[in-house]
Parts: sequence; C-alpha cells; structure tokens
Amino acid sequence: MAAVARDESSKTTRVLGVILVKVDQASATVLSLAVAPEYRRKGVAGALLDRALGLARAQGVERACLSFVSRMPQVAALKALLRSAGWSEPTPRTLFAETAPQQVLQQAWAQRVLDRGPRNATAFDWSDLTPEDRAYVEAEIAGGHYPQDVSPFWDEGNIAPVSLGLRAADGCVVGWLACHFVPQTPGTLRFSRSFCHAASAFSGNGAWIMATGLDRHVNSGLHQSHPTVLFDVDCRNRVMMNVYRRRIEPYIDTSYQSFLVVKDLC
Ligand SMILES: CC(C)(COP(=O)(O)OP(=O)(O)OC[C@H]1O[C@@H](n2cnc3c(N)ncnc32)[C@H](O)[C@@H]1OP(=O)(O)O)[C@@H](O)C(=O)NCCC(=O)NCCS
Repeated sequence: MAAVARDESSKTTRVLGVILVKVDQASATVLSLAVAPEYRRKGVAGALLDRALGLARAQGVERACLSFVSRMPQVAALKALLRSAGWSEPTPRTLFAETAPQQVLQQAWAQRVLDRGPRNATAFDWSDLTPEDRAYVEAEIAGGHYPQDVSPFWDEGNIAPVSLGLRAADGCVVGWLACHFVPQTPGTLRFSRSFCHAASAFSGNGAWIMATGLDRHVNSGLHQSHPTVLFDVDCRNRVMMNVYRRRIEPYIDTSYQSFLVVKDLC
C-alpha cells in the first residue's frame, strides 16, 4: 500500500512525500517514508502515517512496525516523529560492524579457540547439511527452541561457501554461521546468521564458530575479492552479543545498529 502527499495549489503538481507500507494479515510494516527536504516540519510525514495506518486499520491490521538504522542521516528527525506519533521507544535489533577479517583473526583469543576446537560438537560444511538436518532445525525454530531471527535458511540464494554448522554427538545441529554475499556491497562477506545452543555443554562455541568463519574466509579464494567482513549480530542473542562485545568490537572499523519501533492500531 502506498500514499503520496501532493501540493496541487500551483500549476504543476508537486510530490511532497511518500509512504510505502506492506500489509501482512494483522500487521503492517512501514517500508519507506520520505518527505522532500523543502517540505519538512510541516506535518507531511505525520499526515502520511495517519493516512496509511488508517487504511491499514480499516483492513483489520492490529499492529504496525518500522525498522531503521542508526547511521541514517535523518535518524533524529525520524525518532522525534515516531515519538510524537505515539510509537514505542526504539528496540535494538541487529548490530552491524565492518572490518578486515584478519584484524579479528590475529587476536590471541581467536587463535586460542581455534586451537581448542568446538566443545562437545563437530563442525561441518554448510553445503553438507542433510534434509534431516534441515527438518530438525526447522522444527526447533517452529517450536521456539531456536530463534527464528537467526534462521540459517534466510537468503539462501546468496549463501557463501565459508558457512558452517556444528553437530552434537547425537547428530543434532547445535550451531551455525551462515555467511552471505551482499549484492549491493560487492567486496563484503556478511556473517549474517549465527547461533550456538545455549546449554553449558556447548559454552565457548559462539567464539569458536566466529573464529572459524574468519579463518575460512581469510584462507578461502574469496578473501581477495571480498576483503571486508560485515558482522551481523542479533542484539537479543545474549551469547553472540557477549562474543561480539568481548572479542570483536575492539577491532571494528565501523558499526551501526538497526532498531524496531511498533504501534498498536487497535
Ligand atoms: C523523518 C521525516 C520523514 C520527517 O518528515 P516531516 O514531514 O518533516 O515530519 P513532520 O513535519 O510530520 O513532523 C511531525 C513531528 O515529528 C517531529 N520531528 C520531525 N522532524 C523533526 C526534526 N528534524 N527535529 C525534531 N523533531 C522533528 C516533531 O515533533 C514534529 O512535530 P512539530 O513540527 O510540530 O514539532 C523526514 O525528515 C525525512 O523524509 N527524512 C529522510 C528520510 C527518512 O529518514 N525516512 C525514514 C526512513 S523509513
């Protein structure tokens, strides 16, 4: 669904702003909202939001959401707009951080965990995932035992061959690092979806899987054409955030975060 704000007072109609909203049953996602710079602070965005969300509500939509990243130039304006329009406070969702992979890989912790190996699990190349493994992970996600947001089955068309999984002694998949090519950023390999089972038997595997992904990246034929790694950590994944803060953050060149805001329409 889209709405456009126009100024029809002059001879030529001018577009002042647009909003694009995706409606999916009971929820609506604001995909884009922009107002021409010369028409800002005149209530245009507020009116566009009211219009689009009013239409969505009439279709039975109960909840609206919008995500944005902290490095957007107009982030302060957007936050102020959403606050004034009664949206929730922004919740951190994903942390993005870029650097040269060898900058992290050369750290003592990375070498230590690589020497030690994974705990109570063995690694496998993600291309060796069996249909049974896939069914197991999908069932764990559907049952709420593994988080949906770090599903390794996201964007499978762009998956990079450095991706790997971890298997416990009973054969179950207990971790993964899914890496992706980023078509918009050709020299970058994105460490997009990582997960390690939180049971104490597997503690330390979050650090191991990161270090192993970096090692595979640096020692693969892809490193020359893709010299940058983009880490992508779900802010709600406590294990991976701890790994990131302690082990990776000090060696990062640039970082930014995505946030989610929501509004109940009922
Ligand atoms: C964010 C954006 C859409 C706001 O559009 P806008 O038409 O200027 O917003 P409105 O005039 O409807 O603002 C409504 C309220 O939001 C707040 N607000 C908006 N812009 C603000 C700013 N720059 N500083 C502080 N408060 C601001 C104010 O409370 C304002 O009410 P007020 O003017 O009576 O004080 C606009 O700045 C924009 O297009 N930015 C670039 C694109 C973008 O960032 N889009 C969001 C990605 S989805």
